[in-house]
Amino acid sequence: MDTLQLAKQRRSVRTFDGNPLSAQDRKAIEDFVRSISNPFNQSVEFVLLDAKENGLNTPVIKGETLYIAAKIRKAPYSEEAFGYSFEQLVLFAQSLGIGTTWIGGTMKRELFENAAGVKGNERMYCMSPLGYPAKKMSIIETTMRKGVRADKRKSAGELFFEKDFSTPFRTDDKTIADALEAVRIAPSAVNMQPWRIVADGGRYHFYLSHKKGYDENADWDIQKVDMGIALCHFMNIAGGELVVENPGIRTENGVEYTATVVL
Ligand SMILES: Cc1cc2nc3c(=O)[nH]c(=O)nc-3n(C[C@H](O)[C@H](O)[C@H](O)COP(=O)(O)O)c2cc1C
Repeated sequence: MDTLQLAKQRRSVRTFDGNPLSAQDRKAIEDFVRSISNPFNQSVEFVLLDAKENGLNTPVIKGETLYIAAKIRKAPYSEEAFGYSFEQLVLFAQSLGIGTTWIGGTMKRELFENAAGVKGNERMYCMSPLGYPAKKMSIIETTMRKGVRADKRKSAGELFFEKDFSTPFRTDDKTIADALEAVRIAPSAVNMQPWRIVADGGRYHFYLSHKKGYDENADWDIQKVDMGIALCHFMNIAGGELVVENPGIRTENGVEYTATVVL
């Protein structure tokens, strides 16, 4: 998979053409999800859910026939692990021309959790529809995209730093530049792009810049799922090993260390 290309092509798809996945595409997805892993070594179980059979729909998605949910045991870093693994699925679907939308909020959560068989200590942080994009977006889709300024992203200068948070990061290394660009354009909840990276030699420290205003009742942090997505894009391109070794760099309020990719 060419992660940067796929990341550039991908957008959330909220209007589908009403056709089910071809048997071949469905099988490819089923096979692929069994092969997905993440550097947190936490197991993520994917479940395909037929919309009609399970009586599922969501207010923002039109024309879908199938969903994919995933479950993980709640643990430290389970949001990041979930984000990492689920984004591999999103990129793979994109490579087949299958549309997805990360959905963590705009759904009747209980219905989806029941259909996916979420039990006890398991969590289904998000799910997505799977299908072929319709030629034209629904009005609700167009409105949603405007609402979250879905076609905009922060600039690299706002996200990537060197040694500390005061100096913007510059590089001539194409692999690193590509990996950072893939992070910059990644999808995130409410398009908040909470990821920040401080580079120091071959070490890339990932930080989460928290924003309030998400589901206060949830016992998880949806922005940590975003961090998993960022790590997925970065490591797919740059490789490296993930370690949790906080370098103790001074951060502003609300900015929290996540992990470091060592190249
Ligand atoms: C963790 C996560 C949760 C999201 N939850 C929702 C959601 O509940 N409903 C929705 O319509 N979009 C949801 N999105 C999609 C984002 O709004 C979208 O990725 C962002 O606006 C950027 O637009 P794009 O995906 O088209 O590039 C979510 C995205 C992520 C990563």
